[in-house]
Amino acid sequence: MKFFADTAEVAEIRELADTGLLDGVTTNPSLIHKSGRDFLEVVREIAGVVKGPVSAEVVALDYDGMMREAGVLRKIADNIAIKVPLTPDGLKACKALTGDGSMVNVTLCFSPAQALLAAKAGATFISPFVGRLDDIGQNGMELIADIRQIYDQYDFATEILVASVRHPMHIVEAAKIGADVMTAPPKIIWQLFKHPLTDSGIASFLKDWQATGQKIA
Ligand code: E4P
Repeated sequence: MKFFADTAEVAEIRELADTGLLDGVTTNPSLIHKSGRDFLEVVREIAGVVKGPVSAEVVALDYDGMMREAGVLRKIADNIAIKVPLTPDGLKACKALTGDGSMVNVTLCFSPAQALLAAKAGATFISPFVGRLDDIGQNGMELIADIRQIYDQYDFATEILVASVRHPMHIVEAAKIGADVMTAPPKIIWQLFKHPLTDSGIASFLKDWQATGQKIA
């Protein structure tokens, strides 16, 4: 499973990239707003830190506008994935852009039917938002399982990118289902490392080691 960081904070991206476990980054207009930085500038910087796909979202809602904005975004770097919303115009843009060799991340997916449409439009990634579905009392992980079943049935190459991740168990469940990618805020990725038995195990091994009086040299 590929790990993407869902953030526009470059320092946090660098820190995660240093682990060697980061495969890409996703941004959205809200994350850009939160960063307080210039959109094109921050995306350029991120694309320089991470070799894998960096999603940058268009804000136009019509096909021509999306294509115009995508033209600007894809010039930033070769690893930019254009993010388009799951609408008829968004999928039309998706088809045109992937046909032209660009990576496209179709975002704001909330149903298996929408995921099927995105795959038919040739999307590189489909982003189902599990947390936002859970928030309204629906089961986000059920959506991931449904999409996996549909995509496998037809051998669609579109990668399932689990988005709107709220806690480590979302990632574990998505991995059990066989999602291709997950994107999560850095804080949640760091939580994956943690287990109290790891911490107490290290403490007791160190204590016993110090009691031996030895050194590794
Ligand atoms: C993914 O690409 C989105 O940017 C993100 O996962 C949305 O998450 P949220 O529901 O926490 O805003």
